[in-house]
Amino acid sequence: MLSGIKPSGELTLGSYLGAIKNWAERADQYDCYYFMADLHAITVRQKPADLRRRTLEQLAQYIACGLDPERNTLFIQSHVPQHAELGWVVNCYSMFGELSRMTQFKDKSAKNADNINGGLFTYPALMAADILLYQPDYVPVGEDQKQHVELTRAVARRFNGVYGDVFKIPETFVPKVGARIMSLTNPTAKMSKSEDEDAGRIALMDKPEDIMRIFKRAVTDSENSVRFDRENKPGISNLMTIYSAVTGKSYDEITAEFDGKGYGAFKLAVGESVVEMLRPIREESTRLLTDKGYLESVYRAGAEKAGYMANKTLRKVYKKVGFVPR
Ligand code: TYM
Repeated sequence: MLSGIKPSGELTLGSYLGAIKNWAERADQYDCYYFMADLHAITVRQKPADLRRRTLEQLAQYIACGLDPERNTLFIQSHVPQHAELGWVVNCYSMFGELSRMTQFKDKSAKNADNINGGLFTYPALMAADILLYQPDYVPVGEDQKQHVELTRAVARRFNGVYGDVFKIPETFVPKVGARIMSLTNPTAKMSKSEDEDAGRIALMDKPEDIMRIFKRAVTDSENSVRFDRENKPGISNLMTIYSAVTGKSYDEITAEFDGKGYGAFKLAVGESVVEMLRPIREESTRLLTDKGYLESVYRAGAEKAGYMANKTLRKVYKKVGFVPR
């Protein structure tokens, strides 16, 4: 398994339920590689000091979420130069038309109209390289990244079609509940870590009182019945998704639990479940962040192990395309 997250903002409840939670739950079954996608983060302008700080915070949070560095390879993308190198090769096998169709490119270029750079456009080719370097069976991501994994599969097939079986074709692994957590103030938009205007986001490091305040203000509807209907009741449906992902209860069970209780009680219960889920993560991340030496030892060992794997694939690719070995 392999996946990554851009350190372009504080990790949110969306990043956790859509991605990290599923990584941690499968650490025993797979050989796992997880990284901080700093190369991807600079497709949008970042303050250097913030990017550095968030990259290390993200590593601490991965560990605090249950990714034991002894059993998972945790690394910083820019420490493994093969990502950029294979990224270039993959670029040359990705079509302008297919990159133009990426929804995330369309969204991000609309939001960053003053900085529609080449990296923002070719970003899915780098993401494909991130994946293909490690020959994974599964790529666990949220809904919004599915299209990029589809592109990865298309490019890998194209490459294999020319050069033989170089890349394993990876499967997307999307959680049944929680693949798309919406903003609590605007439940028709995704909860996002990097958009300033998203006041409806819960960060993993938020304090309990802040989490409760955001849940109490969550946008709902005027019907006052807790039932799942994403189309007509996006706010309540989103809260039900969160509650279901956190507690494991089904939508029917949740409807029965809050029958006749009203939205106030429901919002409190969802908020409290999230507070309790995040409490140990926040405490452990805070503790880990005081031990910079330990974090450094983790990302160094991770880059070494990841680099070994990545190099094997890259050498094979370079040979296939006809580069003279060094
Ligand atoms: P990123 O950093 O935007 O998001 C990280 C992961 O969190 C998931 N996610 C969500 N899931 C549910 N609800 C939400 N509101 C929500 N917000 C985020 C995302 O689907 C993702 O799984 N391009 C990737 C990073 C990346 C990558 C890779 C992933 C770079 N290389 C290789 C997998 C494999 C990205 O921008 O994710």
